[in-house]
Amino acid sequence: MTAETRPPVLVTRRLPQQALDRITAVCDMTLYDGEDAMPRGRLLAEAAGKAGAVTLLTDRVDEEFLDAAGPQLTIVANYAVGFDNIDVDACTRRGVLACNTPEVLTETTADTAFALMMAAARRIAEGDRFLRSGTAWIWGPLMMLGQDVHHATVGIVGFGRIGQAVARRARGFSMRVVYHDTARPPAEVEQELAAEYRDLEDLLRESDFISLHTSLSTQTRHLINAERLALMKPTAVLVNTSRGPVVDEQALARALARRQIFAAGLDVFEREPEVHPGLLACDNAVLIPHLGSATVQTRLAMANLAVDNLLAGLQGRRPPALLNPQARDPEPR
Ligand code: DGY
Repeated sequence: MTAETRPPVLVTRRLPQQALDRITAVCDMTLYDGEDAMPRGRLLAEAAGKAGAVTLLTDRVDEEFLDAAGPQLTIVANYAVGFDNIDVDACTRRGVLACNTPEVLTETTADTAFALMMAAARRIAEGDRFLRSGTAWIWGPLMMLGQDVHHATVGIVGFGRIGQAVARRARGFSMRVVYHDTARPPAEVEQELAAEYRDLEDLLRESDFISLHTSLSTQTRHLINAERLALMKPTAVLVNTSRGPVVDEQALARALARRQIFAAGLDVFEREPEVHPGLLACDNAVLIPHLGSATVQTRLAMANLAVDNLLAGLQGRRPPALLNPQARDPEPR
């Protein structure tokens, strides 16, 4: 990219203006300005001939997309830390750089997980609905009892950046932290967070709160299914801020309805934007619309990182959050 060439780029949804201004300063930008996910046909049509794209988790970047974009496509900068919507291997085979937005959303997403833990355990959303319903009430010793969060055991499934940030919050609530992951962090991390490794089944049996922080893959799809829900305590609270399909929603709705577990706090769903009707019917489910990283500050930081990735890729520099350096690392190490 030189001063005279303004590479054509596609941005599939409106981002904070500051980030869009950085793109339009040096690129010819096509922006999909709808409120919905960019319709597939339009996405494929608008991708044609682009040198770069800023995509969202609602856009599938697969062989079909890459075919539609054509050989000038240099970089796909995903506006999310999760990248299960991107076929990274297909990008690599075609020499297309694929990027995500890690780190900038770690603390905010951990806050959301903690908020869901608290809301589900202490029946906050249910209490709010109850008051608004206008039902007569008076303080009572047995009214709307929840579960203690402080001094409870939290089981963190997926002990990467966000899982560890949840563990730090848990320490502030005097909680015991156990975790499961396929790879164990360095011993110093376990020590600093006083976190003990468990195999998944033991973690599910032992934990009062289970918070999911795995990425979505064929190994983690329906990781939490009917059999694993059956291992949890009847007082357990399950929280998911990772990806919806990590939980079998049908099985969870059944477990909640039968009070097999105490409650769930869900930010993500198997078939977003649909929410399983069985979950909608459960008073013991706190449901929010994929708001994990949704703060003004974090969404701006994500947008700026996505633009840093995009512009670096277009300018032949190494993007700061490159997923596939083997594609054609602009600055091999
Ligand atoms: C992500 O980044 O993967 C979240 O789901 C949206 O912030």
